[in-house]
Amino acid sequence: KNKVNFYGKYQSGITTEVQKHVYFVVLTINKMSVSEVKEMFKIWTNYSVHLMNGEFVKELGKNKMLPSPDTGETIGLDANRLSLTFGISPSFFEKVGLNKRKPELLKDLPHFPKDQLDKAYTGGDICIQACSDDPQVNFHAIRNLIRVAKGEVSMKWSQTGFNSFKEKDGKIETPRNLFSFKDGTGNPDVHNQSELDKYVFIQEGWAKNGAYLVVRRIQMLLETWDRTALGEQEATFGRYRHSGAPIGKEHEFDTFDPNIKDKNGDKLIEKESHVSLAKASKTNILRRSYSYSDGIHSQTGTFDAGLLFLSFQKSPEQFIKIQNKMGAVDKLNEYITHRGSGIFLCLPGVREGGYLGETLF
Ligand code: HEM
Repeated sequence: KNKVNFYGKYQSGITTEVQKHVYFVVLTINKMSVSEVKEMFKIWTNYSVHLMNGEFVKELGKNKMLPSPDTGETIGLDANRLSLTFGISPSFFEKVGLNKRKPELLKDLPHFPKDQLDKAYTGGDICIQACSDDPQVNFHAIRNLIRVAKGEVSMKWSQTGFNSFKEKDGKIETPRNLFSFKDGTGNPDVHNQSELDKYVFIQEGWAKNGAYLVVRRIQMLLETWDRTALGEQEATFGRYRHSGAPIGKEHEFDTFDPNIKDKNGDKLIEKESHVSLAKASKTNILRRSYSYSDGIHSQTGTFDAGLLFLSFQKSPEQFIKIQNKMGAVDKLNEYITHRGSGIFLCLPGVREGGYLGETLF
């Protein structure tokens, strides 16, 4: 129950039910040949299988004259539903000399209206997403994966995050973000293969069963939000805060009707509400975001908190279309600032006996 399978058609951490914590890291690679990358991916495959089984990457090591092969901070802990997801960016292909294998859709994201990206949270060659119900289990996984690749990779940026949700009868409720609204309601159903095929997983080529991952580090201006009336907050999303239901409806999963009217025939939902705009884009993405809280800004004394937005889609165009719709007009823009960004191709799932990126090489 506490273990997620490493092997499968898709990598873990995409359709896996969301966990409580994430450690997301972006790496840059030094000059590496294809065979060196292949070797690193094979070692990462072996390590990931152990880690996701709740095991040490290697024996703990009793030789007091040597460093331990495993760093050891998970002694006594189990797998905690650890999932590990690996992705590669456009610059990865260039650096390794595999440009010919780069899918046409894998390009740096365009500049979006209102972007205020900080170089410290942007770019990089490889990403690893570790999710589990224990922050130390995530840290241990990332730490050991990087430790074994030392000399080949350097850390560029990272972000931790958390999700809190109620569990009832073995099912989890949709987590709430730091604006206190349920986040994830409108996602494609991960148990419905035709929705996964339509929105999430690549259907052809060597990257079949992989997915594009968009990451955005989005600061949420909590102080401004907290001065905003509840009615206006709900109008911002087009949903009620408590239940998560669409405005004018009763339950969280009731159909969102952007044209719903009251008794007088007046529209209940503004067309610039976040969800109305998402719906108007006529596409969807699989969001699997986590909240973050990184202390306070030293200059302004405000919270440095927000959303580590993570979305999976079969084409980056889906994200681009939605973000362009929201761009300048989303009511939510008054309360958020995009500070970090990345686009990665999450490799296809690995069959038993195979290794990460096998179909790429
Ligand atoms: C829906 C919050 C950024 C795309 C929602 C909902 C909330 C929310 C509360 C309604 C519940 C749900 O369906 O999950 C936020 C916050 C953001 C943010 C707080 C930033 C801090 C974004 C971005 C995108 C996006 C950057 C993509 C460009 C969507 C989509 C939906 C959605 C596709 C579902 C709409 C539907 O029901 O079809 N968001 N969001 N969101 N959001 Fe966001």
